[in-house]
Amino acid sequence: MFNIILYQPEIPPNTGNIIRLCANTNMRLHLIKPLGFILKDKQLLRAGLDYHEFTSMVIHENWSDCLKSLQGCRIFAVTTKGKQRYDLTTYTDGDAFLFGAETCGLPVKLLESFPEKNRLRIPMKPTSRSLNLSNAVAVVAYEAWRQTSFNEGI
Ligand SMILES: C[S@@+](CC[C@H](N)C(=O)[O-])C[C@H]1O[C@@H](n2cnc3c(N)ncnc32)[C@H](O)[C@@H]1O
Repeated sequence: MFNIILYQPEIPPNTGNIIRLCANTNMRLHLIKPLGFILKDKQLLRAGLDYHEFTSMVIHENWSDCLKSLQGCRIFAVTTKGKQRYDLTTYTDGDAFLFGAETCGLPVKLLESFPEKNRLRIPMKPTSRSLNLSNAVAVVAYEAWRQTSFNEGI
């Protein structure tokens, strides 16, 4: 199972989209607090999500708790400041992908804790600033899943 990590996400519909994406691709979703919204089961249901879609979601108090829960997994920071193209890395089951918040991305100190080969970039036009968070997650999640032959997917 791959892991998707959202660092302090701010916008509920993005997280809603990503919950559904993770449910559809059998990935575990990790949310790192503080969240920019209050996550209540009722809200998620109202957003069109079913209960089964958020059963493999874990909420962590902070980054260090999240790290502890992912011991033994390779972690990649997905960032507009990365130099490694996301499609040129070989992924294996258990890998984790860390995404930044909508307005400010990942903190510089946290980014610097990753070796350059683990800082992934999705190509864009030179004048573009960034993709929408849920689109960026979808692009990387599907590439990782594709590389494992869409394991369990039909
Ligand atoms: C809206 S963007 C944040 C924008 C922020 N100003 C920045 O430059 O990181 C939200 C998150 O989506 C991911 N993202 C968006 N576009 C990306 C790209 N082209 N390459 C890699 N990650 C991207 C990153 O994880 C980013 O932190």
